[in-house]
Amino acid sequence: MSRVIAVTSGKGGVGKSNFVLNVGIALGMMDNRVQLLDADLGLANLDVLMGLRPLRTLEDVVLGKCNIEDIILKTDYGVELLPGSSGVEDMADLPREKIAGLIKQISKVSEDADFILVDTASGISSTVLSFLLAVPEVVVGVAPEPTSLTDAYAMIKVLTKNGFKGRVSVFPSMVKNSTKARNLYRKISSAAQRFLDVKVDYAGYVCMDDKLPQAVADQVPVIVRFPTSEIARCYMMIASTLLGQEAGYPDMDRFWSRLIQMIIKRPKKKVHRGVSIGAEDRAKSLEAALRDMLDEQRKTRILLERLVTRMEQTSEELMSKKGPVV
Ligand SMILES: Nc1ncnc2c1ncn2[C@@H]1O[C@H](COP(=O)(O)OP(=O)(O)O)[C@@H](O)[C@H]1O
Ligand SMILES: [Mg+2]
Repeated sequence: MSRVIAVTSGKGGVGKSNFVLNVGIALGMMDNRVQLLDADLGLANLDVLMGLRPLRTLEDVVLGKCNIEDIILKTDYGVELLPGSSGVEDMADLPREKIAGLIKQISKVSEDADFILVDTASGISSTVLSFLLAVPEVVVGVAPEPTSLTDAYAMIKVLTKNGFKGRVSVFPSMVKNSTKARNLYRKISSAAQRFLDVKVDYAGYVCMDDKLPQAVADQVPVIVRFPTSEIARCYMMIASTLLGQEAGYPDMDRFWSRLIQMIIKRPKKKVHRGVSIGAEDRAKSLEAALRDMLDEQRKTRILLERLVTRMEQTSEELMSKKGPVV
């Protein structure tokens, strides 16, 4: 059975793809069979981070242009890659039987994986949301800016309000050190506990390290390019943390079916950041619900920003033992 972990974030550029890549490789180094699934459709780039150029992607499999065995890439880094799609091809609705056939075919190649790590799009569209709801473990990346914090919180809120019952973890990214990371985690977890009554786990953190952009430019995973760097150590720690957790296993048919739906119903416009809503007819009611949620999310964001500022002021006051900052 495969443990499936989806990595997401409220907005792009927090280090999600590098998390999937380097934590995946770390898990591989620890004797696990690992597959990376690039489901950040439109902005798929795990291949680029490894200097690979896949000729065909999952989209071609869904379109019936090739078999799943034709797209899976064995890499030099001990992980396999299932490339997502960056194309813009229009796809009609597939009949049920066709989807059932596809699920059978796709699930075959992942049968032996211990871990499937999924890189998803940032922000929430209805198809991404419905995909995440079929995954037992979601890891949300958060960077130190207040907007990233509130976006991550909003992401957790939308998941929770839509009945997500799996494990939600957070990984602070681009942080100075573990103390800053813990503080960031605490802000989110205490808000989630208080306002959503949901427990958020700590997945570990990824420090800010200029070795990362260097490795990205070289198209070699940083954990391989700079194995003794601080950031490589962070990814190894995260992999160990994941291995120490109790595993949640998904209903694999449901998982693949939602993935296929996400490929078929991908919004035509690229989503670069924040929140977007797909325009597909069948998901109208989900969209209406989402829209309400987004309104609420906006209000929550303002509240949360105030809360964070208050918390920061209070801790500054305590530290300096002076009066309130006016
Ligand atoms: N921990 C980090 N330290 C330094 N730079 C980082 C870090 N994380 C991300 N970056 C920068 O952000 C870019 C985007 O990272 P990426 O993993 O592709 O983010 P995402 O998938 O969330 O959009 C990287 O190419 C790098 O330049
Ligand atoms: Mg990415």
